[in-house]
Amino acid sequence: RSFHVAIVGATGAVGETMLAILAERDFPVGTLSLLASERSAGGEVEYNGNKVRIQDLATFDPSGVDIALFSAGGSVSKEYAPKFAAAGAVVIDNSSAFRYDDDVPLVVSEVNPDQVANRPRGIIANPNCSTMQMLVALAPLHRKYGIERINVSTYQSVSGGGRSALEELGKQTGQLLSFQEIDPQRFPVQIAFNLIPHIDDFLDNGFTKEEMKLVWETRKILGDDSILVNPTAVRVPVFYGHSESVAIETRDKVTVAEARALLEQSPGIEVVDRHEAGGYPTPVTHASGTDAVYVGRIREDLSHPRGLNLWIVSDNVRKGAALNAVQLAELVAAEKR
Ligand code: A2P
Repeated sequence: RSFHVAIVGATGAVGETMLAILAERDFPVGTLSLLASERSAGGEVEYNGNKVRIQDLATFDPSGVDIALFSAGGSVSKEYAPKFAAAGAVVIDNSSAFRYDDDVPLVVSEVNPDQVANRPRGIIANPNCSTMQMLVALAPLHRKYGIERINVSTYQSVSGGGRSALEELGKQTGQLLSFQEIDPQRFPVQIAFNLIPHIDDFLDNGFTKEEMKLVWETRKILGDDSILVNPTAVRVPVFYGHSESVAIETRDKVTVAEARALLEQSPGIEVVDRHEAGGYPTPVTHASGTDAVYVGRIREDLSHPRGLNLWIVSDNVRKGAALNAVQLAELVAAEKR
């Protein structure tokens, strides 16, 4: 059978990638409803060679929608996701609006796909981009060797902030190269030729919300509240692809050779780890525009007997958001077949 699929936020950086990935993966789309704000309603987008009109979410009737992919921000999700679910749709929500609710599963398709079925509210949450790629790589190690602690620093590209953030990096870069003044709007300070240790809001404990997502979401997805996570999240002047320097401490010792062998046969992962120039993944040379989570620089921690270091890179808009959402839609579609 085919499905009535709606994309809420279809004109955004993630929404347009959701649309592209539905086509790439030949998702059985019967009817397609593309929704955005009044600002872009009436515009047209191509899907599989046909023109599809963008509709205004505020006046759209969700009855008949089977699967709705939401990526229009938390406040839009909070208001509209329950309405779509009440009308019978399964909602796959890319915002953080429902991620920490006990009755909403938080699912990485390679890690805890069984949780998709466990959705009393008809809503499934798509994890934060940084947690997503980290757990594709760490879940196999956790299952086999028991991860007790994770130290992670992220190097996050601007596309995680949506289209306006992509535009700001481009604009500032051009202005600075032509000796013009810049006027930061989308980021708190200059992002071009700089980096910013501040993503999302500051919380009372001095961490940012982006950092605490790595703590909360790791525990929920792995179903293990004992895992310790110590995060630092940094925005860097890269367009697409997040990178992460990750140091884990395991219950059982794991060697580089064992880790590599396990990761090479785990789903969604490509190991790129040669000790030579270019023998490691970067956002531009590997991740951007591709689906895998790339792992390189695998080393045993010099300072800890059961420590392992990894460098994890992936396209945050694809696996970190749109691709995982479509993979969850595939799991939902498989139930209904
Ligand atoms: P629009 O293009 O009409 O503003 P990004 O994350 O790249 O900034 O994209 C955000 C997406 O969410 C866009 O598709 C945007 O549509 C959509 N969006 C933002 N606010 C609303 C809203 N109030 N109602 C519907 N869609 C919204």
